[in-house]
Amino acid sequence: MKNIVLVKLGGSVITDKSKAYFANVDIIKRLAKELRISKKSIILAHGSGSFGHTSAVKYGGKKGYKSKEGIAKVARDAMEINRIVMDILVKEKIPAISFRPMSMILAKSGQMEENFFQAVELAANQGLIPVVYGDVIWDKKWKSTIYSGETILNRIGIYLKNKGFKIDKIIQVGETNGVYDDKGNTIPRITKNSWQNLRKYVYKPRVKDVTGGMQHKIEDALKMTEIGVNTLLINGKVKNELLNALLNKKVKGTVIK
Ligand code: IPE
Repeated sequence: MKNIVLVKLGGSVITDKSKAYFANVDIIKRLAKELRISKKSIILAHGSGSFGHTSAVKYGGKKGYKSKEGIAKVARDAMEINRIVMDILVKEKIPAISFRPMSMILAKSGQMEENFFQAVELAANQGLIPVVYGDVIWDKKWKSTIYSGETILNRIGIYLKNKGFKIDKIIQVGETNGVYDDKGNTIPRITKNSWQNLRKYVYKPRVKDVTGGMQHKIEDALKMTEIGVNTLLINGKVKNELLNALLNKKVKGTVIK
């Protein structure tokens, strides 16, 4: 049985969400080093931040697109941040292989209907690091939909678990010390029960987020607890938090279990 960790580098940490098309290259480099040093088997996802979200807000969001040129631009921008991340990973000598979600998943009304995750499984079995990202994907009802990096990652996690992989945990790397309450303190743990009361405290994103921001991340993570996989939300802007989370050391964050 192969043990793996699922890691998502959020768009808020790998890009500057307040500046269109601005990648935080130094942060991506540091996070890549932390991934390498951990020596863990990882499936990696990343968000789109000020790349895909900028164009998705303009040209079409969750339910289809406004123009053919628009959808082409969203797909291209999602790929652009992936190229930047891939360049850094490969330079760091991480055997990372990019899988384009648009070519690997089909949806209907925003829900995944078909996939080709077998390719990811084969790569993972060979000791490679598969990389996916938030993307625009084809939708049988809406023409297209925006599919977030964490949703793809969770779906891959379910697939691999059914294939006999052991998912140690999911780590979501953002720009906060986990989830904050109304006073700005980290909520150490969220469960299905506590979420009912906590959801009103969770902050709203600063800029428009097509895929639903923190609330969406938490609710997706709660679904993963049903198959026994916990999610840890940590701050990627703090040095070594990702490394410590990978090595099961103490971090300042929120666990969803
Ligand atoms: C969004 O992906 C994809 C597009 C807008 C094309 P994510 O939802 O994973 O991105 P972040 O992490 O919120 O930036």
